Amino acid sequence: MSKPLINELINPKDIQDRVEELAHEISAYYAPLLAEDEELLVIGILKGAFIFMADLTRALNIPRQTDFMALSSYDLGAESSGTVRVIMDIRQDIEGRHVLVVEDIIDSGRTMAYLLEMLGARKPASVRTCVLVSKQRERVVDEGITSRIDYLGFTIPDEWVVGYGLDWDERFRTLPYIGTVSVS
Ligand code: IMP
Ligand code: MG
Repeated sequence: MSKPLINELINPKDIQDRVEELAHEISAYYAPLLAEDEELLVIGILKGAFIFMADLTRALNIPRQTDFMALSSYDLGAESSGTVRVIMDIRQDIEGRHVLVVEDIIDSGRTMAYLLEMLGARKPASVRTCVLVSKQRERVVDEGITSRIDYLGFTIPDEWVVGYGLDWDERFRTLPYIGTVSVS
């Protein structure tokens, strides 16, 4: 069996610094927007966003609630099936709520386009997005999806990346850094 090789692309310190910056920006944006007793609803997209979500939500300094949705568009390891499925939905009603979606990565843009359409139909007060990494490539659904990213951690080349929540066929999610994976 060939052995996958991981090449570090973004080190743990740079990730943590960027997460702090994003949390700061997000807090500054929502602080004046939230009414008294109102909380931002942060929705993390499983599984890839679980580590980013944990670090980001703990670094916020505004009232917030956390919830999760599980979506899947890649069933065959690293190969896209081209469709998005909801594996687990949030339980609460988001009508009238300020919602922040936390995603691990934008690749083709399919998942985010689907998500924004679905959440938008539930009549939230607002939906913004925070994405850890965005691949520099053409989006298959809608080129405009890139402009729907309100908070972006890093832009990376169009290569498969792992670590800090991201996987390669369920492997390497818990690496502390983000790296590219190649099979020799
Ligand atoms: P998209 O729908 O093509 O934008 O892909 C989004 C989803 O595919 C992400 O939420 C990830 O779960 C997964 N994905 C895409 N590219 C990568 C990658 O390089 N590493 C790990 N997961 C990825
Ligand atoms: Mg994902």
